[in-house]
Amino acid sequence: MSGPVVVVAPLPQVLPRGRERVELQRDHARRAVRASATAQQSPIAELRKNADDVPQASRGWHWSLSHSPARVAGAVWSTSIGIDVEERREVRPDLVDRILNADELALFAARGEDGFLRTWTGKEALLKEFGVGLQALSRCRIVRVGASELEMRFDTLVRVVHQRIFDDHVVSVCTADGRVPSFVVHTQPLEARREVAS
Ligand SMILES: CC(C)(COP(=O)(O)OP(=O)(O)OC[C@H]1O[C@@H](n2cnc3c(N)ncnc32)[C@H](O)[C@@H]1OP(=O)(O)O)[C@@H](O)C(=O)NCCC(=O)NCCS
Repeated sequence: MSGPVVVVAPLPQVLPRGRERVELQRDHARRAVRASATAQQSPIAELRKNADDVPQASRGWHWSLSHSPARVAGAVWSTSIGIDVEERREVRPDLVDRILNADELALFAARGEDGFLRTWTGKEALLKEFGVGLQALSRCRIVRVGASELEMRFDTLVRVVHQRIFDDHVVSVCTADGRVPSFVVHTQPLEARREVAS
């Protein structure tokens, strides 16, 4: 059976600064979530979070989103879900050491990959699916690396994180049921939803 529809879109090229920029990124990420809901005929209502910032399910539908400097990604799904999108960039060696352990580095090296962005987004997606923050990073571990998926453990729980790998960015998706997502990749920023007058 098919998995969640994950919507990925660029942000506008010219962005405001400071607080306004953050608000615009968050707004576009929510457009991606809404577009995913429409594609899946999900009746999800408000996109509410709890006091710890964790997205709360509505009408049985879970949601997750991510904003990076240049794009957003979002989706709804019938089980818990976590999404992360990140662009390629220069990284400091100490950050690599913090994100990837020696065994994980070896798994990627065997494939001729550095693995940084796949690991970064994979662990973020896993943490988000469990609704926990970065303090739980050491509980995430990669045990197998495939062409477009990572088999991971969160403590003793197993997850397959599915990934869409582009030249300059990676999108990772983790769900409790492990279904393979489909990706709808927009080349233009998402437009605001038109409210229908009742
Ligand atoms: C907050 C965190 C969950 C994600 O932060 P991020 O990658 O910087 O930001 P993203 O845009 O990808 O995701 C932010 C969204 O995640 C959601 N979110 C926040 N906390 C969450 C949690 N505990 N569980 C699930 N989702 C969460 C929110 O919807 C938030 O967006 P909003 O504030 O607009 O609603 C956390 O993992 C973090 O602080 N990361 C910092 C980056 C880092 O060092 N990563 C290490 C790589 S493993």
